[in-house]
Amino acid sequence: MIALMDRFLGRSESAVLPARASDAAAISSVHCLSFLHGWGENEVERLLSDRATLGHVSRLNGGSGPVVAFILSHVVNDEAEILAIAVAPNMRGRKIAEKLLAKHLGRLAALGVRKLFLEVDEQNAAARRLYASAGFQEIGRRDGYYRRPEGNAAALTMRRDLA
Ligand SMILES: CC(C)(COP(=O)(O)OP(=O)(O)OC[C@H]1O[C@@H](n2cnc3c(N)ncnc32)[C@H](O)[C@@H]1OP(=O)(O)O)[C@@H](O)C(=O)NCCC(=O)NCCS
Repeated sequence: MIALMDRFLGRSESAVLPARASDAAAISSVHCLSFLHGWGENEVERLLSDRATLGHVSRLNGGSGPVVAFILSHVVNDEAEILAIAVAPNMRGRKIAEKLLAKHLGRLAALGVRKLFLEVDEQNAAARRLYASAGFQEIGRRDGYYRRPEGNAAALTMRRDLA
């Protein structure tokens, strides 16, 4: 009932905003919940203060609530690389990443980026689906790139051209 009311009142809607220095702790927290080697707050602060970094966050409550997702890219002239995208585990499967990525791609295009790259673990089904839906295509493969106790996995390099 509360979830229904939240949806009706728009309180659970996420909004995408530019990442600010004050978002570093929240971004670090989502990153640590999402990856084996989590980024500390200092590392995120360093990335956000780099002029080559473009970052966005998703906040609940139409933009006034907590940060539940982020995306960071490294931009050099007309090329960029997505460094990381992650959604807090309890907020996944609600199209938050899709919305966040779409907004981020629009901003990159507006900045003059024409070629966008990323690397993804071949076994990461959710991320691969997200990227495929957003028009990324596989252009390379590095076997055994991700080393894990349960077995190594390939890294796929993907590219999307922006108009
Ligand atoms: C990958 C990730 C960002 C997706 O976030 P999300 O908000 O749950 O994704 P969305 O709800 O926007 O869904 C996007 C697409 O992924 C698909 N998807 C989401 N979760 C999935 C899952 N567990 N398995 C398969 N597909 C999945 C959705 O169906 C959707 O595809 P569609 O448009 O073809 O239906 C999220 O799972 C995450 O943070 N993972 C950990 C961090 C990570 O792996 N980041 C990527 C590193 S390269």
